[in-house]
Amino acid sequence: MISANPPSPFRERRKRLLAHMLAAGGGIAVVPTAPERERNRGTNYPYRPDSQFFYLSGFPEPEAVIALVAGETLRQVLFCRAKNEEQERWMGHRHGPEAATERFGFDEAWPMDEFDRKLPSLLANQPALWTTLAANPEWDRRVLAALAQARADVRGGTTVPQTVHEISTVLDEMRLVKDEHEIAIMRRAGEISAAAHRQAMRATRPERIEYEIEAELLRVFRAGGSPFPAYPSIVASGPNACVLHYTDNNRRMRDGELLLIDAGCELDGYAADITRSFPVNGRFDGPARDLYQLVLAANRAARAEVRPGNAWNTPHDAAVAVLTQGLVDLGLLQGAPENLIEAGAYRRFYMHRTGHWLGMDVHDAGQYKVDGQWRPLVPGMVFTIEPGCYVRPGDDVPEAFWNIGIRIEDNVWVTAEGNEYFTDGVPREMDEIEALMRE
Ligand code: GLY
Ligand code: MN
Ligand code: MN
Repeated sequence: MISANPPSPFRERRKRLLAHMLAAGGGIAVVPTAPERERNRGTNYPYRPDSQFFYLSGFPEPEAVIALVAGETLRQVLFCRAKNEEQERWMGHRHGPEAATERFGFDEAWPMDEFDRKLPSLLANQPALWTTLAANPEWDRRVLAALAQARADVRGGTTVPQTVHEISTVLDEMRLVKDEHEIAIMRRAGEISAAAHRQAMRATRPERIEYEIEAELLRVFRAGGSPFPAYPSIVASGPNACVLHYTDNNRRMRDGELLLIDAGCELDGYAADITRSFPVNGRFDGPARDLYQLVLAANRAARAEVRPGNAWNTPHDAAVAVLTQGLVDLGLLQGAPENLIEAGAYRRFYMHRTGHWLGMDVHDAGQYKVDGQWRPLVPGMVFTIEPGCYVRPGDDVPEAFWNIGIRIEDNVWVTAEGNEYFTDGVPREMDEIEALMRE
């Protein structure tokens, strides 16, 4: 057996998947990467591999498929683009099957051109198939054609898989608990993104345009080695902060307004996801100060609940309790906080949840409930803590709070001892933000 050099977390993950498949009776797993997408004539969108494929391989090129066979012998096979001098002159380096075997720790690799011809024989006589169907019609067509061809040989004694397993069910659970390799990348993605937010704070002042601040973020991401943001950056001043997925980023910022920035880089396939809200003129004041204080208190309350054994929902419940009481104190809600929580009245001002799993996908893989119950936190989970408050104008809303939108979002890793935050490199406290903005 070939051992990858350096030791490969990817090969380890493939072995764990194979062990799971064996325990379920064996069979074959087939995982394709994402297709390239044309942007307009002759140019493509920046390429990003499929998360599941990349999780299992670390292989960055398009037109590739992993096949893993869990039988009497275990086989790890990669199909990838063949070497091609002419194509490589125009489009860049290809590993090619030979180098890919060694470099990415596969037992065998074959040119992608042979995939459709080889797949029927790979499927033949396997008890089960693990893949994802009904997500990509082109993939469905290829798998079904291969199954049909394998079945055509039934008089030759061939059997075809009797069961198809949704492979995401296994991979999503694996991805939910991060390994050391992933944590190291995510910590770094958090540091780069925090540096970008610090730079954005320094660069913000009245009369600048949102996209000028977005440009600062992008520069720091790229200079840190990130190929692109993990999601479209939100740079939302004044009323735009109350539009949750605002990405136009083209408004001139005015004195006396807040700026909400939700931005994180992607690094080696992993996302950071940070939000900060701060005054355009560098001084927290008036109702914005009061509301910021409240969201910060909710952020602290939620952060304090991140530790193994607590249910997934505990930080959310803590944030909602603080926010609801505060909204009553500020005159934005009327009634007893318990009743307002019970009735969901706080949702008028806080309409999203306090977090989501974070990993290769910004809203990462993994179930939030198991058997109908919020799942307990375990070491290795990574997620966001992101309470917020968004006040749209309304007859029954004190005008002083109109158009204020605030969110404070951090990224946390559950450790055996409690937690580690990856995003503490950018301040949350008002005096610290003000000091940074004076620099
Ligand atoms: N930036 C997306 C989110 O915070 O969920
Ligand atoms: Mn988020
Ligand atoms: Mn975010």
